[in-house]
Amino acid sequence: MRIVSGIRPSGQLTIANYLGAIKQFIELQEKHEGYFFIADLHAITTPYEPKELKNAVLSAFALYLALGLDPEKSTIFLQSQLPEHSELAWILETIAPLGELERMTQYKEKKQEGSPANAGLFLYPVLMAADILLYKPQAVPVGEDQIQHVEMTRSLAEKFNSKFGNVFPLPEPLVLGKNSARIKSLQNPDKKMSKSDEDPDGAILLLDSPQEIKRKIKKAVTDSGKEIVFDLKKKPAVANLLTIFSGYSGKEIKQLEKEFSGKTYAEFKNSLAELLTEKLKPIKTEFERLMKDESFLIRLLTQGSAKAQKVASKTLEEVKEKTGLTLK
Ligand code: TRP
Repeated sequence: MRIVSGIRPSGQLTIANYLGAIKQFIELQEKHEGYFFIADLHAITTPYEPKELKNAVLSAFALYLALGLDPEKSTIFLQSQLPEHSELAWILETIAPLGELERMTQYKEKKQEGSPANAGLFLYPVLMAADILLYKPQAVPVGEDQIQHVEMTRSLAEKFNSKFGNVFPLPEPLVLGKNSARIKSLQNPDKKMSKSDEDPDGAILLLDSPQEIKRKIKKAVTDSGKEIVFDLKKKPAVANLLTIFSGYSGKEIKQLEKEFSGKTYAEFKNSLAELLTEKLKPIKTEFERLMKDESFLIRLLTQGSAKAQKVASKTLEEVKEKTGLTLK
């Protein structure tokens, strides 16, 4: 099956992002024909620093490569290198209902957060529909927050097909992390783990140093009592640490409870810090190695973009014929 998905180049990724979505995302390339791109055209819909964009793009690319995304197995490219994305977006904008766009949760939230309400932010889902439809995929791996956008993509595809003739198969959302437990902040198990300035020690970043990992795990809140058992109500903090341990070790929670029965919180935390250090260190090392070779990263991305363009340009050609944007 063919799948398409975009990666936002902004923000630093945490172990919660990895366990909740990226791990599964990377596994998908083993069985599917993946088209994955860095969504830089989407990144510029919220305030950003132009001088830093290239570095954000290359960092995101290098990190995903370090995590296992493989250009031999998947087509990995940069959205802005293909004018087809913007061009199809424009055409789809002419059939996109304003009312539907106004109902998009992400747009409403961003607007509420005070992001300047530019038209790009409003049209974000239409560009996303173009990203997807150009490759005619069967499925779109996304986090839960993006399901609404995939649904909008389906409705735009349907509308296009019925207005101009059949071009687009309707893609299904493939929801990442549906069954995975939500990882919580190490400082407050009521909140989800995310990189935020108010809670800097609540999240472990994929690129944290071993010292940072140890410090944050050591500082993580625990619950009263001293047993290491999974009890979401009575011991939410310990349950969270067990979930992380299980995610990174591949061991069942039950097995971990046995392994750590009679052990202290401190011993348990030490083992967890060691496990995370061991798993994250090679990723950081590989990331740093890749970032030193910028021309290699650029070459890989450019090759990927050329490969993607073969598919994208063909679809756009079809669209232009159907819509009358042609002199043939
Ligand atoms: N909007 C997605 C996100 O915020 C990124 C994205 C852009 C995307 N285009 C896409 C995801 C197309 C899937 C398909 O995560």
